[in-house]
Amino acid sequence: MAALTPVFLFLLFLSANSDESSSCFSAIAISNSVAALYVFGDSTVDAGNNNYIHNAPRANSLPYGIDFNNTPTGRFTNGKTIADFIAILYNLSLPPPYLSLTEAQRKTARDGINYASAGCGIFPNTKPRKKDCWSLQKQIEAFNRTVQEDLPCMIEDPQELVEYLANSIFFISMGANDYILNFNTHHGPEYFANSLLVQFKWYLQTLYNIGARNLVVNNIGPLGCLPSVINMTGNGQCDEQINQNIMPYNSQLPQTLKNIQDEYPDATLTLANSHDLFQDILADTEKYGFTDVKDPCCGAYVNGKLACIPNSTPCDNRCQYLFFDENHTSEFANCIFVRDMLIKG
Ligand SMILES: *[C@@H]1O[C@H](CO)[C@@H](O)[C@H](O)[C@H]1NC(C)=O
Ligand SMILES: *[C@@H]1O[C@H](CO)[C@@H](O)[C@H](O)[C@H]1NC(C)=O
Ligand SMILES: *[C@@H]1O[C@H](CO)[C@@H](O)[C@H](O)[C@H]1NC(C)=O
Ligand SMILES: *[C@@H]1O[C@H](CO)[C@@H](O)[C@H](O)[C@H]1NC(C)=O
Repeated sequence: MAALTPVFLFLLFLSANSDESSSCFSAIAISNSVAALYVFGDSTVDAGNNNYIHNAPRANSLPYGIDFNNTPTGRFTNGKTIADFIAILYNLSLPPPYLSLTEAQRKTARDGINYASAGCGIFPNTKPRKKDCWSLQKQIEAFNRTVQEDLPCMIEDPQELVEYLANSIFFISMGANDYILNFNTHHGPEYFANSLLVQFKWYLQTLYNIGARNLVVNNIGPLGCLPSVINMTGNGQCDEQINQNIMPYNSQLPQTLKNIQDEYPDATLTLANSHDLFQDILADTEKYGFTDVKDPCCGAYVNGKLACIPNSTPCDNRCQYLFFDENHTSEFANCIFVRDMLIKG
């Protein structure tokens, strides 16, 4: 199979199912044309790697996971992440967290692996104060080990391995923490965005050099509209300064992807424009079935800030909330993101 761009057409087979409260579509098995899904990123897609990293930010207690068989997995939401829904679209099993796998399991993970780590970013030094996590650099180093040491045990013919990687999807969802935890305006927001994109481009090229061909890259949502931020503005509105700060990144990212595409004609780089979909949802809440796009489904006001307290009771109508905790979207929102961002292009 050549390029994967047309693969997104398969997604049209999904049908909206509004009666199904736990899902935005009935996940009809689509196609086995994608070999595997490899996931890189932050808490938007971490599936539990941080549970294995010392002193990392974690989502390992209920109500996280309440709609994931009532099991906290490390996902920062009530159910599945965007990456999980992408796997479902391609009839793949949910990519397991790299760090949860034994040596033997790493050598038999045929459907892909998730390397994402909550709290980290594109810049290697982006992390929460006094906490640890895996930067994109570390995640790519682990993927390199997968390709060098593990996959050859399963796919012995080197040419077959090349094809397997070329038929796989690489989903990268990162950059928000670089703005939340590492942003500075010494040289202005354009300069910051440019430095971040120079770094990001280098990592995407590294993934290409290891064998990735189909890269789907998420941009950064309107961080000024996170419940944790709205709570701080004091007027119930988004922080427009924060939203402005990320704009140069989102507006230059397509060109960065195009530059890589031009350099490597056998690669396919696809933008997942979660930012614009997010804005759409905020502008037309009802169309998407949300009744609350400002408050977290799980959130209490403690010590001057919003937080989802372990073992607290979340809202009942979780499909009506855009946010599950003060920074992270609900499973229902994640499903809509994949449905509308990747299906409709
Ligand atoms: C989905 O995967 C399962 C098992 O891996 C397989 O039996 C089934 O035929 C696949 N469905 C499609 C539509 O490819
Ligand atoms: C991947 O691993 C190979 C073999 O160990 C090494 O030579 C190469 O530098 C690594 N590449 C990256 C990007 O880590
Ligand atoms: C933050 O949220 C809490 C809990 O909903 C609320 O009591 C408080 O008034 C909010 N603060 C601001 C400044 O919006
Ligand atoms: C949410 O973001 C705020 C502000 O950056 C941070 O202090 C808090 O720890 C975050 N909470 C979670 C669960 O990510």
